[in-house]
Amino acid sequence: MAVDEISVGGLGARVKRVEDDRFIRGKGNYTDDFKLPGMLHMEILRSPYAHARIVSVDTTKAWAIPGVHLVLTGELMAQRNLAWMPTLSYDTQAVLATDKVRFQGQEVAAVVADDPYIAKDACEAIEVVYDPLPAIVNPSQSLAEGAPLIRDDKDGQTDNICYRWEVGDRAMTDRVFERAERVVKLDCFYPRSHPSPIECCGSIADFNPATGKLTIYMTTQAPHIIRTAVALVAELPEHMIRIIAPDIGGGFGNKVPVYPGYVISTLASILVGRPVKWIEDKTGNLISTGFARDMYFHGELAIDHRGKIQGLRIDVDTDNGAFFSDAQPTKFKVGLLHSAFACYDIPYGHLTSQGHYTNKAPGGVAYRCSFRVTEAMFFQERLIAAAAQDIGMDPAEFRRINFVREFPWRTTYGMLLDSGDYDKCLTLALEKLGYPELRRQQAEARKSGRYIGIGISTMTEPLGAGNSREFDIIGIKMFDSAELRVHPSGKAVLKIGSKTQGQGHETTFAQIVTHELGIPSTDILVHHGDTDNTPFGMGTYASRSTPTAGAATSMASRKVRAKARKLAAHLLEVAEDDLDWELGRFYVRDAPQRGATIQECALAAYTNMPDGLEPGLENHAYYDPPNMTWPFAAYLCAVEIDPETGVWEVLKFVAVDDCGVRINPMIVEGQIMGGLAEAFAMSNMQFITFDSSGNCIGANYMDYLLPTAWETPNWELHEVVTPCPHHPIGAKGIGECACVGGPAAFVNAVVDAISHLGVRNIDMPVFSGRVWEAITQQRDVAGYPPLPGH
Ligand code: CDP
Repeated sequence: MAVDEISVGGLGARVKRVEDDRFIRGKGNYTDDFKLPGMLHMEILRSPYAHARIVSVDTTKAWAIPGVHLVLTGELMAQRNLAWMPTLSYDTQAVLATDKVRFQGQEVAAVVADDPYIAKDACEAIEVVYDPLPAIVNPSQSLAEGAPLIRDDKDGQTDNICYRWEVGDRAMTDRVFERAERVVKLDCFYPRSHPSPIECCGSIADFNPATGKLTIYMTTQAPHIIRTAVALVAELPEHMIRIIAPDIGGGFGNKVPVYPGYVISTLASILVGRPVKWIEDKTGNLISTGFARDMYFHGELAIDHRGKIQGLRIDVDTDNGAFFSDAQPTKFKVGLLHSAFACYDIPYGHLTSQGHYTNKAPGGVAYRCSFRVTEAMFFQERLIAAAAQDIGMDPAEFRRINFVREFPWRTTYGMLLDSGDYDKCLTLALEKLGYPELRRQQAEARKSGRYIGIGISTMTEPLGAGNSREFDIIGIKMFDSAELRVHPSGKAVLKIGSKTQGQGHETTFAQIVTHELGIPSTDILVHHGDTDNTPFGMGTYASRSTPTAGAATSMASRKVRAKARKLAAHLLEVAEDDLDWELGRFYVRDAPQRGATIQECALAAYTNMPDGLEPGLENHAYYDPPNMTWPFAAYLCAVEIDPETGVWEVLKFVAVDDCGVRINPMIVEGQIMGGLAEAFAMSNMQFITFDSSGNCIGANYMDYLLPTAWETPNWELHEVVTPCPHHPIGAKGIGECACVGGPAAFVNAVVDAISHLGVRNIDMPVFSGRVWEAITQQRDVAGYPPLPGH
């Protein structure tokens, strides 16, 4: 008899997350929990200025403090050729500043001491003389005549542009716009935000002078890439480097880049010959580590009299901060921004983008999104909403007549969609929201001065980079891996190249093995995050784990099953071809009662294998996805605004997600709820900005708010399933969909509520003050200074 898939924790089972047991009991092991014998502590001195020349750095007093073992400056780093490091986007970044500081919070010096308090005191004893320079805090200033050159360290750099990029058919798009019946335009700004994981970044570097082996415990989402990067930067042999990413208290893209603190603590450990721990504080994390978004959009749609979109033009300015240091696929300078409008059938489109250096901390991190997809989908859904408003068409209907309906489909910017049923998702969402009735209530409410609004956001998002033909980071192709070993007793260990940061991989990846082999998920242990103990993988970000490492897990399991078939044939004394498989068991086709379970095959692999068959039951797979997966979502939100104050509240929120086959529906729902909470916070709670001197405003949790259960509305979740045609189990990514598609639903709802007053746009965060301004002034509220030429 086949085992019952749900009862053994296979595909579709709502298995409770196995990792939560240790987290709830306070038994998680985060980087800061490790205490190594002889360990010293490191603190970093950061720049108070956003832009200043360094005149001198005097460390005399710091060295004199008892308990100080090492004081590092840019000059000392430079002597070892480590003052600068390459970034994951082919730029360079200062490890410790030598010539200038280029953002507030930049690393200037570091102290290693017996404890963190001595190290902090010693940092304060370092005397740095700065010569302040004018700070550039937005692209408008970076383009201005006579703007100071931020990256004067780079040969040949004569302006503050860090890249220009374009995609699409410019000539044909221009022709479409020349003949367009109607052109609708929108300018809007997606402000800076910060992933702000609860656990800050940190590392413990442990160089063993006797063996020459370097072990680094660190908060990284991508341990294997870090190992390669450390090998290149520090010129150490890769096999003598071990990166251990233990439990991670949230990543959200913030823990992908290589931060100076990692490099400095590594050099410090090599110099002092003892383990060196560096743990960032919250303000350090908020002001200096990877920010996200900060994009200025200018876009237009050419629309015919039926409401069919004929052309799309987008121009984007991105504020990248002082160093272009987030990870991007080499070919795509603005990540997957060109996934914008993928779910809409648009014959011609063209997209241009320029990246700007500014005196802000590095930006552009893929905060819970597939590179720049969040920004792409936000602008897409804001422009779609504005267009429907301008042409006087119902926004649901406008989407419907423009949805892609045939698959495979090449999008206007050249991406390949392989599956989806967009209409079905939107129809279900409209039905669950009670759309026609709400529209009636909205019209009725307006008569008595009440403002009710309905926001729609529909999007498909590419998740699971590669394929390796198109996707690499610093030349390393994007694929992922899994290694499965079944022990004689039928219990198994799965090692994966991805790295969980709270998404539940230890649970869901075991469920994939269960689905393939019938081994109960409770009999499978999942290892991740240790480069000495897992196969090479590109790590976890961009919701790529299930599409890539998840697929590799299936493929490795299937290889194991193929070997188990040989063992079953031997045990049952029949030919392999005479066997059929049902979950957990091979059986003789003509005599189904005669069978061998996967556990019996495992035992035979070590105790009773046929002559000529290699012992053991294990295999691995490196999975290079043929395409990304394309989940789809329809997020619908109803709000009511208080006309007197601009305060708005969510009346109802409906989310319909299609992430293909769901491995663990409960975990998927958790991912959607978490993503929506972040989207809600971004839309109206979070503001992390910079004053004209480049001081970061919002550098603590008093000012930069995290949503709690108190503020967060209720979410009503529904599902549609269109399996991914190329993923072995039909799964698509889901981790970030709600964070990507959610913000536009809230903003669209607020704007819709007051659209009859002539309001078309309010930039995020949609604070009550901005809404009140829009109501009282009866106009749009922009959140940024205008850029030249727009
Ligand atoms: O890469 P990341 O883990 O952040 O994102 P993901 O691959 O979309 O997965 C997030 C969590 O949802 C993981 O635990 C997945 O295995 C699970 N998941 C699922 O159960 N079913 C899916 N179709 C997709 C993800």
